[in-house]
Amino acid sequence: MIHAAVLGYGTVGSGVVEVIETNKESISKKIGDEINVKYILDLREFPGDPCEKKVVHDFDIILNDPEVSIICETMGGTEPALTFSRNALLKGKSVCTSNKELVANHGPELIRIAKDNNCNYLFEASVGGGIPIIRPINSSLTAENIDSITGILNGTTNYILTKMDEDNANFDDVLKEAQNKGYAERNPEADIEGYDACRKIAILSSLVKGKNVKYENIYTEGITKIEAADFAYAGKLKKAIKLLAMCKNTEDGFYAMVAPFMIPKGHPLYSVSGVFNAVYVHGNMLGDSMYYGRGAGKLPTASAVVSDVIDCARHMGKTIMCFWDAEDMELMDIADTKRRFFVRVPKSVKDKVIETFNNIEEVESVEEGEYAFVTPVMSEKSFDEKIALIGGCINRIRIED
Ligand code: HSE
Repeated sequence: MIHAAVLGYGTVGSGVVEVIETNKESISKKIGDEINVKYILDLREFPGDPCEKKVVHDFDIILNDPEVSIICETMGGTEPALTFSRNALLKGKSVCTSNKELVANHGPELIRIAKDNNCNYLFEASVGGGIPIIRPINSSLTAENIDSITGILNGTTNYILTKMDEDNANFDDVLKEAQNKGYAERNPEADIEGYDACRKIAILSSLVKGKNVKYENIYTEGITKIEAADFAYAGKLKKAIKLLAMCKNTEDGFYAMVAPFMIPKGHPLYSVSGVFNAVYVHGNMLGDSMYYGRGAGKLPTASAVVSDVIDCARHMGKTIMCFWDAEDMELMDIADTKRRFFVRVPKSVKDKVIETFNNIEEVESVEEGEYAFVTPVMSEKSFDEKIALIGGCINRIRIED
C-alpha cells in the first residue's frame, strides 16, 4: 500500500482526493500497488465529509509517520508550504505540488533536496493546470533543443480578452462581469498584471535552459491597457490579441517576457479562447508541438497533481532526472529584442510618424482623430526612442508573427 497525505483541503486538495478516490482502481493498477490517502492537513474541521476522520491539524503527524511516502502540497503561498515541503523531502518523502509561487521561487533548492534524499519534487500542476507540459519538457522532448515556448498561461486574462473581443466591451466591464461569475479573483492583480503568467514562464524557461530563470528578471506587462478599439484594429489586421508568456533563443541571447501581443489568424494560439490555456513549443528536431487544455480548475489541476503522485509511486527510492540548477540564467535585455508593433497615435502627428518610422503599414482608423500603423521589425529600444520623438502614443501592441 502506498500512503499519501494532502496538505490543504481547498479546491485543489479536495480535487486530489476526489481524483484518487474516483480512479483508485486504475491508478492502483498503474502503480502496481494500492494507493491510499492517509491524512489531510487543514486548519479547519470538515464534519460530514467522507474524509473527515483523515483530517489532522499538525504536520508533524504526517512527517513522523513512516508509512507516508508521498505528500501533495496544495496549500499555495510560501509559508508554511516551503517549510513543510523542505522537511518532507529531507525525510525522503516525495512532494507533488500545484504551488507555482513556491516552484518559481524555490524550485532549484527543493529539487536538490529531493535528489539528495532519493525522492522527488514534482510540479506538473504548477504550469498550465491539467495540461501536461512539465513532463513533456522533462521527458518526452529530451532529444530536442527547445528554441522557444509561447504560451497562453493564464485563463482569467484569456477569458477577459476573449470576452472583450466577442462583445466589443471594455476591460473594466468585462473584469467586473468575470468577478461576478467567479471566473476572476476579487483581487485580480496577479492575473491581469501578468504576474501569474510570469511565474509560469519562469518555471518553463528554467526547465528549458536547466538554469534558474528568476521571475523578477522577466519583463512583464499585463492587459489593463488593452481597449475595445484595439480589438477593432486587430480585426482589420486579421489578428487576435492574447497575453503571451514566451521565452526564446535568439542569435543575440535568450529572453523571456509576458505581454499582450497581436497574433495572426494562422498562428496555433489564435483560436485558444476563453479560460483555455495552450503551450506552443518549438524544438530544433521536432519542430512545432502544442499542448492545450484547462489551465485551472479543481479536477484538471488535481489530475496533474495525481499524475505526479503516480510517477513518485513508480519511482520509490529513485529521483526522476530534472535539470534546473540554482545558477542564475542570464537573460537578454528586452530592449534588444526585435519585432513589429501596432501603434495608435493622434492624427495630428501622422506626418511626424511617416518622417520618423520607415516603411510603416497604415491601418484604417476605427476611432475618429486617430492614426494607426504597423512598424517594420525593429528593436524595442529603437521603437521606444522613435515613439518618444513623436509623443502622444495612444496605445501600442507588439506583434508576434
Ligand atoms: N489564476 C490562474 C488563471 C489560475 O487564471 O489561470 C491557475 O494558475
